[in-house]
Amino acid sequence: MYFEDTFKEDLVAWFKVNQRSMPWRETSNPYYIWVSEVMLQQTQVDTVRSYYERFIKHFPTIEALAYADEAHVLKLWEGLGYYSRARNFHAAAQEVVTRYNGEIPPNPEQFAALKGVGPYTQAAVMSIAFDLPLATVDGNVFRVWSRLNDDIQDTALQKTRKAYEHALEPYVQQHSGTFNQAMMELGALVCTPKAPMCLLCPVQHHCESFDKGTVYERPIKTKKLKKKQYKLIVLYIENQNGDILIEQRKTKLLNGMWQFPVYEEDIVDRKLEEEFGDAITIVEKDIYQLKHQFTHITWNMTVHHAKIISDSDKMLTETRRWITPEDKRLYTFPVPMTKIYEVMQ
Ligand code: ADE
Repeated sequence: MYFEDTFKEDLVAWFKVNQRSMPWRETSNPYYIWVSEVMLQQTQVDTVRSYYERFIKHFPTIEALAYADEAHVLKLWEGLGYYSRARNFHAAAQEVVTRYNGEIPPNPEQFAALKGVGPYTQAAVMSIAFDLPLATVDGNVFRVWSRLNDDIQDTALQKTRKAYEHALEPYVQQHSGTFNQAMMELGALVCTPKAPMCLLCPVQHHCESFDKGTVYERPIKTKKLKKKQYKLIVLYIENQNGDILIEQRKTKLLNGMWQFPVYEEDIVDRKLEEEFGDAITIVEKDIYQLKHQFTHITWNMTVHHAKIISDSDKMLTETRRWITPEDKRLYTFPVPMTKIYEVMQ
């Protein structure tokens, strides 16, 4: 690929006509652009729309976000997954307020030093909000660029990302925000993973993989490790008042979120005996089964319904509460726990 050719013009001309309308494309407010880019990592555009609108309605300025409670931020993130994104973003907003007087620094190094800001977010916000010359390399761009160049470098490697950022530099010297978004949009709409629409592609005549018939073999990405599997028992426990027991996670995964008590299958009997003695009875087993995939692990969950038949306050610890079923909305639950709640209502 030679940057003197018409690749960028062809791509941008296509983008100007075919881009999807997105609320964050109607603004030049760097904070709004940052909100959208944090949400768009790992999450599809169509899911992000409503979360984005609600988030900026509740936190219309970076100060509003900085001064919010973490629980409120997490509640507005509920269902988007990857909750450390929200926690880091909240912390970064606080840093911007205290260190930069609420102004997002239009300086790539200062911006990248904020919590949770990696190379993708750095390039996206700096280019879209301030037109600074950095290339975004996300999954779409890996796919588009590897096909355009019929490149066989392993896109799972950090050094390939660096190589791509470098190779794209000539294209982001001007109008970088538009170019970056055009690359991502092409990856989302035309140069898709499984069924690319090469015949409709505005840059087909620049594409080496199209020429060689290798489009379906690009990008090259080494296989991820197999996910670790957990067999879990989830207990929907009621007391005599019809309250349900929830607990707050104190673990790396989903830290701070609330759930119904969960035990690994092979130790559940022993744990229940330890924690509840003979005060608990399982009233119905195997009510519901579900599987939930996280990035590196899989939960295979079986739900039992249980009742506590003695003084239920004895079961409380610092991280456990009895709540009425209606009060569930006041707590942030991971998606699979919300599904279980809905089944049990
Ligand atoms: N994916 C992440 N950010 C995007 C953007 N601004 N435009 C298109 N796709 C994206």
